[in-house]
Amino acid sequence: MTRNLVQAAYIVSAVLFVLSLAGLSRHEKAKEGNAFGVTGMVIALAATIWLAASQSANALLTLLFVVVAMAVGGSIGLWRARVVEMTQMPELVAMLHSFVGLAAVLVGFNSYLEGGDAGTGVTIHLVEVFLGVFIGAVTFTGSIVAFLKLGARIRSSPLMLPARHWLNLAALVVSAGLLAWFVASHSVVPLLLMTVVALAFGWHLVASIGGGDMPVVVSMLNSYSGWAAAAAGFMLGNDLLIVTGALVGSSGAILSYIMCKAMNRSFVSVIAGGFGQEVSLGEDKDYGEHRETNAADVAELLRDASSVVITPGYGMAVAQAQYPVAELTSQLRKKGVDVRFGIHPVAGRLPGHMNVLLAEAKVPYDIVLEMDEINGDLPGTDVVLVIGANDTVNPSAAEDPGSPIAGMPVLEVWKARNVVVFKRSMATGYAGVQNPLFFKENSQMLFGDAKERVEDIIKAL
Ligand code: TAP
Repeated sequence: MTRNLVQAAYIVSAVLFVLSLAGLSRHEKAKEGNAFGVTGMVIALAATIWLAASQSANALLTLLFVVVAMAVGGSIGLWRARVVEMTQMPELVAMLHSFVGLAAVLVGFNSYLEGGDAGTGVTIHLVEVFLGVFIGAVTFTGSIVAFLKLGARIRSSPLMLPARHWLNLAALVVSAGLLAWFVASHSVVPLLLMTVVALAFGWHLVASIGGGDMPVVVSMLNSYSGWAAAAAGFMLGNDLLIVTGALVGSSGAILSYIMCKAMNRSFVSVIAGGFGQEVSLGEDKDYGEHRETNAADVAELLRDASSVVITPGYGMAVAQAQYPVAELTSQLRKKGVDVRFGIHPVAGRLPGHMNVLLAEAKVPYDIVLEMDEINGDLPGTDVVLVIGANDTVNPSAAEDPGSPIAGMPVLEVWKARNVVVFKRSMATGYAGVQNPLFFKENSQMLFGDAKERVEDIIKAL
């Protein structure tokens, strides 16, 4: 009876999760989608706790364990979610993925120690355990490296071991051999050996991927964490966990694929740890001199312009400059200047980052355009304001085949009549490559914090 009710609750939750994903894929329906997800999760948790309590010999003790664990985990989660900066979101997500991976490893070992059904079921159970632990371990260390790279705790440039692709291949072949040994012997030794190999494999896989491809890596790890959860669902015989894991796994994979397309990257190459990419690191090229400008001159330039395009990036988010940027936009529009925004698909540190910030500052939606929509208009634009963006406006992506970001579509701001770049120094962007845009004849640098500089321009106007 309890089982049937729980199954029914699981089906309701699964439907709510599908509705949640459908809602989250559109701006207008995102809030609704979130509400569906939260409701589904509450039902799923309540049903699971009830099931656990009703199956245990000491229901009270089980409930006590669950409540204490949830209180500790929930408080930490609530505190992190409150203090995290929007710009640190991908790091937080990467860290959370590592927990899913670790959980799958622990569930796998637990399930192995408990043993499965007798007969043919044993082999299937052992394969489930093996795959669950493998995916979990890869997700665990891979996510830790992503967390360290995104938070600049380790260098974001790719680790280039001499035979790195052979190492990856060897890890897969060795793991396949260990699977055969595990199924034949039922011994814990091959399981332990594979865990070590998978931990190293996950670490190496993400370490060999360069900074510019990190957004794809995070969404790919999201997908892996989904498969790890699905594997845990098989081991625990929990249908909802299988469905949820599959939803996360496939949506993460689809997002990774879409991002790869947007960045003109090969999907296989990225998920195989930068396979087939030979990038040159460290360049000593002489780009010439850059020109500096000041807020008063930029205000003058804007006053004389009839068309202005603003291309924001990570620096606008760090400086929280979206409010003065919205104010500047409204002032210029009142003066009859045609102001629009050009948004690169990976500007900032998470998908849709810039759109969220601009919407928060109440910039009208119809003047915020995608990269593909605005690129064609840039040659006829009087002034482009590059506010805290760097990699997403780097001409080397289009012009230098040896560049680590070669082939990535960029906002072609250098084609405009005048370009003003807001940043604090001549430092490189996330991908760690120099930007020839800063040295072009039609470019001027406006140094300083983006928020302060935009406020200075508003004053001068
Ligand atoms: P970046 O290339 O990271 O450049 C941001 C620039 O902002 C930096 O050069 C920095 O220069 C400047 N800046 C930082 N703080 C500032 C402040 N307070 N005021 C003014 N300027 C400031 O950013 P982007 O052009 O947005 O490109 C995004 C990069 O992040 C891409 O490489 C992308 O692959 C990667 N990434 C994206 C995502 C997603 S999904 N969007 C996720 C992870 C990584 P100074 O230090 O000189 O000020």
